[in-house]
Amino acid sequence: MIVVLNFGGQFAHLIARRVRDLGVKAEILHGDASLSEIQALNPKGIILSGSGHSVLENGPLPDKGIFELGVPVLGICYGLQLMAHMLGGEVKGGYVKEYGKENLDILKKDALFNTLESKEVVWFSHGDQATKLPTGFVKTASSKSCELSGFADEKRGFYGIQFHPEVTHTVHGTNILSNFVFDIVIAEKNWNMSDVSAGIISDLKEKIGTDHVVVGISGGVDSLVAATLLHQAIGDQLHAVFVDHGLLRKGEVESVSASLKSRGFTGLHVIDASQMFLANLKGVTDPEEKRKIIGHAFVEVFEKALGEELQKFPVKYLAQGTIYPDRIESAAVGKHADKIKSHHNLTLPEKMKLGVIEPLRDLYKDEVRRVGEGLGIPHDMVWRHPFPGPGLGIRIVGEVTEDRLKILREADAIYQEELKSAGEYEKIWQAFAALLPIKTVGVMGDARTYDYAIALRAVDSVDGMTADWHKIPTDLLERISSRIVNEVKGVNRVFFDITQKPPATIEYE
Ligand code: XMP
Repeated sequence: MIVVLNFGGQFAHLIARRVRDLGVKAEILHGDASLSEIQALNPKGIILSGSGHSVLENGPLPDKGIFELGVPVLGICYGLQLMAHMLGGEVKGGYVKEYGKENLDILKKDALFNTLESKEVVWFSHGDQATKLPTGFVKTASSKSCELSGFADEKRGFYGIQFHPEVTHTVHGTNILSNFVFDIVIAEKNWNMSDVSAGIISDLKEKIGTDHVVVGISGGVDSLVAATLLHQAIGDQLHAVFVDHGLLRKGEVESVSASLKSRGFTGLHVIDASQMFLANLKGVTDPEEKRKIIGHAFVEVFEKALGEELQKFPVKYLAQGTIYPDRIESAAVGKHADKIKSHHNLTLPEKMKLGVIEPLRDLYKDEVRRVGEGLGIPHDMVWRHPFPGPGLGIRIVGEVTEDRLKILREADAIYQEELKSAGEYEKIWQAFAALLPIKTVGVMGDARTYDYAIALRAVDSVDGMTADWHKIPTDLLERISSRIVNEVKGVNRVFFDITQKPPATIEYE
């Protein structure tokens, strides 16, 4: 197990994911976690993450005891600086901020660098620099604008690097992490999804025993995988409530239901509440108002259905599809981590006094997907792009009506289908169609049309916090556009969105 100490920002998650991809378990703790919290995880190695903070301005520091545990430590960016700051070196500010790709000269091919070239392309993002080596360290790398880009004390297994090996722009970043994990820490490969999945199932069996569990199905990947794991563990003791708010993508209610039923799961209750949602949304155009209405209606329908299950079965737990970043991000807020927007779709009704079960609480999204595939859920279903809780309700600008939903669902289905058949879908983080409530003039055959516009969104992102627009080949865009205007009645214009986030958001609301 590798412990990643998180000093802010989102670097820690990327590091932990890379380590797990190497087949080694990694957990994130707050940068200022107590020594006993760290020791409780029995780490074989520690990685200190980057951060937007500065050690010169009271940035968070780890417990000094981590340097006495006798385990290797790798400091990345801010992590290098705090090693310099705490172990007898020096850090100075006031440099021109170095941001982006840089050439790195490797001066010493130690255990961290020994599989690298003498010159490497790496990615920097920092303002401060270490200006004096900490006691017992030697310089191992430098760049044009950062003399101490790497240092090491091989005897103690302490390494610092000023650049980020966890981002893909650092060409051999994975080699560096792999060298640390396998050659320096000598960690065991003990993190693979089939063992993880078997472990989750046996833990669920043990924890739940003969009790009953209700799980909410949202139509998304996480709740489907959570329910499938639970069903594997406890069979008929599982009851699933799927609130169909009428705002899901084309065919989604059917395919998610079919996936569960195909495994012999009989406890699925699909509640068609689409008319109620539509009625509540009638005449509402304000985005926040729409979100509130959808959220409230959802809780109301779900609570009622849950209450009915509670009458029928001895239910003790409510299961949710919470995944690792949801949990760690919410916990980090208010500490040093920069505030991260979280999107919680459901909070447990307190009066119901149910225990909470979160089968996916330790997994990243791509791990959830691999577990799902391992359980036999079809590839296309587990690799679906992220989909917001309020669904198509925030992809129709202005009022949500049945007519507009139908148009959007059809246009979106064509978009998804074409992306998939061109092999583009899995290169994109999130792609969808949105309906713009403006009508413009067009011609169809001999007739004049006056119809809606569809906006196509496709973004590359890591976590949805920032995003770049994905460059879809123009011939594919052309095909999508002509299919949408030809096949979807009510649309005569298609736009492709080329804005980044920020300043735009991903969704349209
Ligand atoms: P924005 O539009 O804020 O979206 O740039 C960032 C990411 O968050 C997703 N999103 C949501 N997910 N419930 C969710 O589960 C929500 O209410 C919600 N709102 C936005 C969005 O799809 C994108 O991936």
